[in-house]
Amino acid sequence: MSLKLRRDHRCGQMSVDKVGQNVCLSGWVNVVRDLGGLIFVELRDATGKVQLVADPNKNKEVHDVFVNLKNEFVIAVSGKLTGRPEGTCNHSSPTGLVELYPDQCEILNTARPLPFQLDQGEKVDEALRLKYRYLDLRRPEMSKNLVMRHKISQAVRRYLDTEGFIEVETPILCKATPEGARDFLVPSRLNPGSWYALPQSPQLFKQTLMISGVDRYYQIARCFRDEDLRADRQPEFTQIDMEFSFVDEEEVQRVTEGVLVESFACAGIELKPPFQKMSYADAMGLYGSDKPDLRFGLEFKDFTAVARNCKFKMFKDVAEAGGLVKGIVLSGKAETTSRKHLDTWADYAKSCGGKGLAWISFGKEGLRTSGLEKHLTADEIEQIIQIAGAGVGDVILIVADKAKQVANVLGRLRLKLGEELGLIDETLHKLLWVVDFPLFEYDEEEGRLMAVHHPFTSPRVEDLDKLESDPESVKARAYDIVYNGVEIGGGSIRIHNQEMQSKAFAAIGLDRETASEKFGFLLEALESGAPPHGGIALGLDRMVMLLCGCKSIRDVIAFPKTQSGACPMTSAPSAASDEQLNELKVYNKLDKTTEKGKTTDKDKKGSCEPVC
Ligand code: AMO
Repeated sequence: MSLKLRRDHRCGQMSVDKVGQNVCLSGWVNVVRDLGGLIFVELRDATGKVQLVADPNKNKEVHDVFVNLKNEFVIAVSGKLTGRPEGTCNHSSPTGLVELYPDQCEILNTARPLPFQLDQGEKVDEALRLKYRYLDLRRPEMSKNLVMRHKISQAVRRYLDTEGFIEVETPILCKATPEGARDFLVPSRLNPGSWYALPQSPQLFKQTLMISGVDRYYQIARCFRDEDLRADRQPEFTQIDMEFSFVDEEEVQRVTEGVLVESFACAGIELKPPFQKMSYADAMGLYGSDKPDLRFGLEFKDFTAVARNCKFKMFKDVAEAGGLVKGIVLSGKAETTSRKHLDTWADYAKSCGGKGLAWISFGKEGLRTSGLEKHLTADEIEQIIQIAGAGVGDVILIVADKAKQVANVLGRLRLKLGEELGLIDETLHKLLWVVDFPLFEYDEEEGRLMAVHHPFTSPRVEDLDKLESDPESVKARAYDIVYNGVEIGGGSIRIHNQEMQSKAFAAIGLDRETASEKFGFLLEALESGAPPHGGIALGLDRMVMLLCGCKSIRDVIAFPKTQSGACPMTSAPSAASDEQLNELKVYNKLDKTTEKGKTTDKDKKGSCEPVC
């Protein structure tokens, strides 16, 4: 870069109090408007935009340079800042009262025609935005997200420092951690046939640090999980990861609330701890979700008692088999709910795996139902209406199924209706601790118990004696933090005793040998004077996404991956060369089967196997 013009101000600083000052600015040409005589240029840098004007009658040299300017050229200008004449001010822009007629202009770099117009960014296909991420990030909507992320990270660091935490980095090349997702593996050149796993979280390291005597640890930690991606999931993401020694649930929650207060303040949101708490059983029972969105009601009503005693076979069978008959009430919606609406909602319930949707509409002209009056007595319908607390003008939607399915179907329907009927109060910031999770859950696919959080979570003291005899009834000392229906963090008090840890492994079917092979170091460390400890991890990307008002975490990550785990800008993942694979003692299995040893593009992406 030529240093003829050295910038001494930023575009966003150009305000009326600087009128009359000589300023030198650098940045990108955001827009050029050539009005025949005058040429207007909007100059943009990281802080904002300011209007430049070239007048051939005032400065022909600068005008000649301006004639050649194109969008995204990089320029430097200097001159005296002036106030805009009456009638030309733009009061909606922070710099809209001033402009600069440069007396010097230097083109620092040119730019090719753009693959998309930056001001059209929102409408551009995301794949194209990700391919040209360096252009996408120039858009103020995107750069503001990066700034917000930075501010939140700094606020978190400042706060945790005052609470006595030290930041410790933990390895990226490590042994598998059991967070429930698939691991990313990295072959070890020095140990042919052996693989590192990228950490799904620093869980075991942070627990080990407590045993090492670190009092309070935190890390803004990169985590890697090979799982199916969604709008709020990335294969590599960032956690605000914390661990405390000599701690109980209340203290972890108090500090976490402090972290959230500071983070939300960066977005101008004032939170008032302590946050509401709800048991897992209530969350599932009332909202069908372990992360309920409390910005609107539509709590479930339980009609199982009526169903059990009625003659309607469908309801009765479900109730007698231990299932549930539950519903939600749409207050005052009878007149605006058409048959078409009800059919669409029933179809939605079926698409969620439900058997259907029964309904009672209590309109002005009387009661209409989805045929329920043929199966239930007037008294039974009245009992349902009573339990629902419904009255004239209301609609009751009912689902009958196994408990898990009722929660799933009605929970998803509740969210859909909350949005569709405009019931969500977007001005609310509802933070909720979900507590009293079960320690284990039976996994039909695996055919065994699985840890609901992870296998290092401590059972509640009062449930200890049930760990072996009735593990499914044991509650965990775990807690999740939920913001407006999104799980933004989770943690627990840990097991700090080797014997109990072995029992917890046994309950999930991990025999002594496997446990020792996978986590032998932890079991040994637990026998070396492990203090009671616990912690939590907050999903930084999710939190920033919500605080920036974005719909996808990709919008708050500088270089995210697509749905298929790819980076369109760098073309990762890509094939490794034969030399690299040979050095790693890993060969491409598909190469061997390819005709005459030729390697096709498909083969290059083929699976790799260790040779030994
Ligand atoms: P957990 O697995 O619940 O706990 O993760 C904590 C938080 O991390 C965020 N998160 C994700 N964000 C983006 N993409 C993903 N793929 C992704 N997966 C998780 C969520 C989640 O609440 N070691 C434990 C914490 C502990 O016990 O201290 C853990 O990782 O916001």
